[in-house]
Amino acid sequence: MHEFAPDLFRLDGRVALVTGGAGLLGRRYCEALVQAGARVVVADLDAQRAHALASELNADHSCAAGCGLDVTDSRSVSDCVESAIAAFGRLDILVNNAALTVRGGSETPKPADYFAPFEEYSLEVWNSALQTNLTGMLLCAQAAGKQMLRQASPGGVVVNISSTYGVVAPDQRLYDGVKTPYADTGFNTPVSYAVTKTAVLGLTRYLATYWASKNIRVNALTPHGVFDNHDETFVRNFVYRSPMGRMARNDEYRGALLFLVSDASSYMTGANLIVDGGWTAW
Ligand SMILES: NC(=O)c1ccc[n+]([C@@H]2O[C@H](COP(=O)([O-])OP(=O)(O)OC[C@H]3O[C@@H](n4cnc5c(N)ncnc54)[C@H](O)[C@@H]3O)[C@@H](O)[C@H]2O)c1
Repeated sequence: MHEFAPDLFRLDGRVALVTGGAGLLGRRYCEALVQAGARVVVADLDAQRAHALASELNADHSCAAGCGLDVTDSRSVSDCVESAIAAFGRLDILVNNAALTVRGGSETPKPADYFAPFEEYSLEVWNSALQTNLTGMLLCAQAAGKQMLRQASPGGVVVNISSTYGVVAPDQRLYDGVKTPYADTGFNTPVSYAVTKTAVLGLTRYLATYWASKNIRVNALTPHGVFDNHDETFVRNFVYRSPMGRMARNDEYRGALLFLVSDASSYMTGANLIVDGGWTAW
């Protein structure tokens, strides 16, 4: 009898690099990867938070390293992959999770610019979202892929983080009447975010087929709105629109991530795993 056990999800002996690893969801991914047995490089523009999380994860046993990383800078990306090799000797998993948001990173755009109406949207913010959310993923996949192919047994796994707003357009009614913490600025899902997250799905399909014969699997994970002290009106609008009637908790994408990076998904590439409480089902 073939054994089917949670062992399928184990990652012992594997090394993962998580970009934006110090952010709201990135840190949950890092924790889950460590719990599944992987050694993890927490890579983030905010180097201090990346190192702090790595130290936290190392409290029990030595399993993590922090790395300052700017995904938009190819030198910084290759340095980070080098530091993963220096720390752990190999690289098996890349989680392309970093994105331009108003919460994370030390160089975030001003909310007034990030949430500006489409008619006024500045080329500067648009370009910087393209750089971080799309070009950054490409640079990280390039550097990680090179390393994965040059290892003794070539291969690996890449997970690109998209968003439901890469799959369907944002419902602008969600933002009706929402008060924001940003003084007189509006709150919405801007065009820069929705369009770059759509492009992530194209990059995923391209790389999946390009590397399919080389034993590198590439899939997308599509999370949906995570509750993070949002305004009451926004939550009410969201809950009304959500089949499951709630926002996600920040730990609810860990299982999907472990599935995608482990042998549990060994026959899956070029796919997009949508975890959205049913949002895109109607
Ligand atoms: N939070 C949600 O509701 C939600 C929903 C759907 C998809 N997502 C996606 O999940 C991912 C993580 O989102 P989050 O909510 O944790 O965001 P977050 O802002 O908390 O974390 C993003 C992290 O990326 C880092 N970062 C930004 N620019 C960078 C750069 N140039 N180089 C390296 N790191 C950089 C930031 O410092 C930050 O730590 C993003 O790709 C986001 O689009 C989030």
